[in-house]
Amino acid sequence: MTATVIAIDGPSGVGKSSVSKETARRLGFGYLDTGAMYRAMAWLAHQRGVGDPGDVVELVRGAELEISTDPDAFAIEVDGIDVTDDIRDPEVAQFVQTVSAVPEARSELIERQREIIAAASPGIVVEGRDITTVVAPQAPVRILMTADEAVRIARRAAELHGAADAAHVDSTRAQISDRDARDAQTTNFTTAADGVVTLDTTHIGFDESVAAVLELIGDRT
Ligand code: C5P
Repeated sequence: MTATVIAIDGPSGVGKSSVSKETARRLGFGYLDTGAMYRAMAWLAHQRGVGDPGDVVELVRGAELEISTDPDAFAIEVDGIDVTDDIRDPEVAQFVQTVSAVPEARSELIERQREIIAAASPGIVVEGRDITTVVAPQAPVRILMTADEAVRIARRAAELHGAADAAHVDSTRAQISDRDARDAQTTNFTTAADGVVTLDTTHIGFDESVAAVLELIGDRT
């Protein structure tokens, strides 16, 4: 049986991970966090002192990557090292493009993502920045989650620091806008491609976002 694939893209801080995970739970589906794969590879490259694009490609091709698709038990290992917590370090987000900006490194990770998707049953929610367009353009449900930048910054600041006060908002703004601008050079997650539904979450909270995603899935599968 072929897995039902739910593809969700969006920029930093939009809340796509928590919404994707909850959607997967409600449906009894798997959950694939593709950003975690880029982060784990970037973590490994950093550890090994690898930065040259050619060396990064070699590193990614040779690395063992184990990622859980259980939405209740997320874990990721690279070359046998558990990096589940390390990859959430904001510093990793600052050098993740050492990997994600290299086309051949992307191709390798995309291939692995497609293998994981092909092995899923009965379905899988896959989130990232190029899922609706490159990784799974044939998915029956493809969603681009958006929210105004101020809202995304406040959400990310609250997630990282437990509060969206002025100092944290300022530092988070710098991190988010810089990373999104650089990511936008390799992936399109700001405008919906043909057939992709935009879900603007600027004025809706977590529960409503999950409900909206579930409704779209109900309509399309
Ligand atoms: O989603 P998350 O913030 O964890 O993603 C980390 C980074 O991984 C992004 O900033 C981007 O550089 C890269 N990424 C990507 N393509 C994806 C998912 C993530 O390039 N599908």
